[in-house]
Amino acid sequence: MVQPELGQEFRAELDDLVQQLAKVLPDVIRRTDDRIALQPDAASVLSNFREPLPLQGCGAEKAIERLLELNETAGGNTSGPKCFHFVIGGSTPAALAADLLATAYDAITYTWVLSPTGVEMEMQALDWLKEIFELPKSWTGVMVTGASMANFVCIAAARQWWGEQHGLDVSETGLACAPQMPVLTSGFVHASTLKVLAVQGIGRSHVQRFTLDDFGRLDLDAFAAGLDALAGEPALVIVNAGEVNAGEFDPVREMIELARQHNCWIHVDGAFGLFAKVSPRIAHFVDGVEQADSATVDGHKWLNVPYDSGYAFVRDYRLMARAFRYSADYLPDENSDRPTFGAIGPESSRRARSFAVWATLKAYGREGQRRLVEHCLDIAAHFAERVRATECLELLNDPQLNIVAFRYNPGGLSDAQLNELNEQLGEAVLADGRFLVGTSKMGARTIFRPAFSNWRTRQQDVDEFADVILELANR
Ligand SMILES: Cc1ncc(COP(=O)(O)O)c(C=O)c1O
Repeated sequence: MVQPELGQEFRAELDDLVQQLAKVLPDVIRRTDDRIALQPDAASVLSNFREPLPLQGCGAEKAIERLLELNETAGGNTSGPKCFHFVIGGSTPAALAADLLATAYDAITYTWVLSPTGVEMEMQALDWLKEIFELPKSWTGVMVTGASMANFVCIAAARQWWGEQHGLDVSETGLACAPQMPVLTSGFVHASTLKVLAVQGIGRSHVQRFTLDDFGRLDLDAFAAGLDALAGEPALVIVNAGEVNAGEFDPVREMIELARQHNCWIHVDGAFGLFAKVSPRIAHFVDGVEQADSATVDGHKWLNVPYDSGYAFVRDYRLMARAFRYSADYLPDENSDRPTFGAIGPESSRRARSFAVWATLKAYGREGQRRLVEHCLDIAAHFAERVRATECLELLNDPQLNIVAFRYNPGGLSDAQLNELNEQLGEAVLADGRFLVGTSKMGARTIFRPAFSNWRTRQQDVDEFADVILELANR
């Protein structure tokens, strides 16, 4: 027997909730600049968070009040101007609004039939992105959760191609009868690529990294020799456009041109580095990318759309379709006139990430994207200058992109002592909470590696960051 009360109750509750949201949401959004980056008391606030599953529940209003209270007292402000951890972008106004609407509509972009608008927006936005990154129009794109999954899609297509070179359809037969796939790259290869190689049965331990130094820069001659040694055997080459410690690039054009002379699938991981294309100041770093076979880009990094949002672009649609094909009588075909993104990528159920991507590109265009990227370049250059001019701070790269590598160095200490000091300082910065930033390694040295990827970050924020580092170090 259908219970009419539930529908009535929820409809009435939604009416109240809309009023509640209308009151609190503007405040939540407006205070993004002011909310602390990381609540120092988060752990103690959350220490009594866990509770038994309620039988009846407290109702939506109270649950949402509790959620707001928790996030205000223990949340991380990753979309704020003082978050420089990993490579975390903010959200442009248009993207934020569109993403809220994607949730309000609960739009599903599995196939055109479910959301003609969402799917058309995805196709349009991917075309615009190809234009921005100067990738060939004929390439096929698909939206996924982020660069890890974009690498997953691109490497799945590469694996399919590689299998076919050996007369195998690996999506049908698996890799059991196949030889080991050669993978060539530099020391800049991202951890997510290695994870993808691991889960796709290619394996990560035999990846050949041709490195010149302990930072991981490509040794081009050794790479060329590695390609020669393949003697025509098909292989995967990973080109890293934008590495995470100092924002450096593999020599994209040279690497691709060399690999093109061999039987290679060339994948470019340009999670944030491909955004160099939008600024004439740095576009040369990714010159030649259109000669590759596939490319990864992250939207929640430098496009400044909300998490999660990444894009895989692949030269050959048929390989994607073969790698991700699945069929059932009730599912649409991957070649139907009404496109089905679920049939050319890993996810069947997909939220409408396209709303935010389309909206931000529609609202600000190519020029807006250039301004956003260059704003971050200027912030990085300003901060680097500040580090250079500050006693006790040592600049460790000449930033070409949006990442500044530096360490605290009061002088008179060995590298090992400096490493320990900077690791402790890194913990102190996180415990303090005014800034969200991580440490990493540049060769053997422990570094801070703030990445500036958010339109919200101002000069005063990075000046304050330098002050806070010194203040905490002096403690
Ligand atoms: C070069 C590169 N590739 C891949 C990734 C993984 O991205 P995501 O966290 O969006 O999966 C990152 C993240 O920082 C990255 O910088």
